[in-house]
Amino acid sequence: MNLSKKEIVDILSSPDTDIFKEADAVRKKYVGDGVHLRGLIEFSNICKCNCLYCGLQSSNKHVNRYRLSKDEILDIAKKGVDEGFKTIVLQSGEDEFFNTKLMCEIISEIKNLGVALTLSIGEKSFEDYKAFKDAGADRYLLRIETTDKNLYKKMHPYANFDNRMRCLYDLKKLGYETGTGCLVGLPEQTLESLADDILFFKELDADMIGIGPFIPHPDTPLKNENNGSLDLAIKVMAVTRILLKDINIPATTAMESLRSDGRLLALQSGANVVMPNLTDDCHKKMYEIYPNKISATKQDFDFKLKTINRYIETVSCGYRNRA
Ligand code: 5AD
Repeated sequence: MNLSKKEIVDILSSPDTDIFKEADAVRKKYVGDGVHLRGLIEFSNICKCNCLYCGLQSSNKHVNRYRLSKDEILDIAKKGVDEGFKTIVLQSGEDEFFNTKLMCEIISEIKNLGVALTLSIGEKSFEDYKAFKDAGADRYLLRIETTDKNLYKKMHPYANFDNRMRCLYDLKKLGYETGTGCLVGLPEQTLESLADDILFFKELDADMIGIGPFIPHPDTPLKNENNGSLDLAIKVMAVTRILLKDINIPATTAMESLRSDGRLLALQSGANVVMPNLTDDCHKKMYEIYPNKISATKQDFDFKLKTINRYIETVSCGYRNRA
């Protein structure tokens, strides 16, 4: 299906939530009822960036900073594999301590465990992305956050929109399964710009899309702003499912942080992936991108999924079925 920008804006502005059911049907038809698990390891909260909305921004002096050692990361990954995870996601702030050589070592050791590996470690050069791919990385997540250039500039005063775009196209070129996504409800963000975000996901031919409501963090300059709306975030996700059909869409943690059944609602409105957090309790508390960040485990999902007639898929879902 193709939707024009105006049609998308009309859907996003309408109080009607029929789109949730339509997205659920498209999800069922193209990717089935299984929910894919990705085991998340948050291995460093040290970040050189200063994204205005993010609790881990380098200007936030209230964060207890940590980085896990290679052995600690591998131990967590092994525990995840023992629990049955088929995909490990390595996520961190932009921490240059983890240089190309060290990252490649970690990547190849995790790949030796026989799992798919996703990286979510920010903007790098083409050469770095190539080295990570050669070391075995399969997938990469890098949200564009917003495609509205003016808003991007306001939210990331020291960053460069064109470089972020370059990263996404480099990842695609290198054959990564490429994930991107956006925040919903940033100050001054319009429905038109969210429609542009969705059209960009299609244009990039993204393989995974993560969408979450903005949640103000008390130690950031955006602390007095309003939350993004959960309903609107789920609508953006639902329209994305309808347009891109067979991609992977996580029910994101930010959705659950706003409402206790937020992720279940997402799984009934187009999502087919959840990312339980494998990081140990002590460190996961320090990875506070936004307040009240939920850290569900696999066991939490086991139980909840049955209530919506979904089940944990025990094979890693690889390349998209484009049939
Ligand atoms: N609220 C919601 N999501 C946030 N992220 C960063 N800060 C916030 C916030 N305050 C999201 C960004 C980033 C992902 C790791 O977390 O979209 O890509």
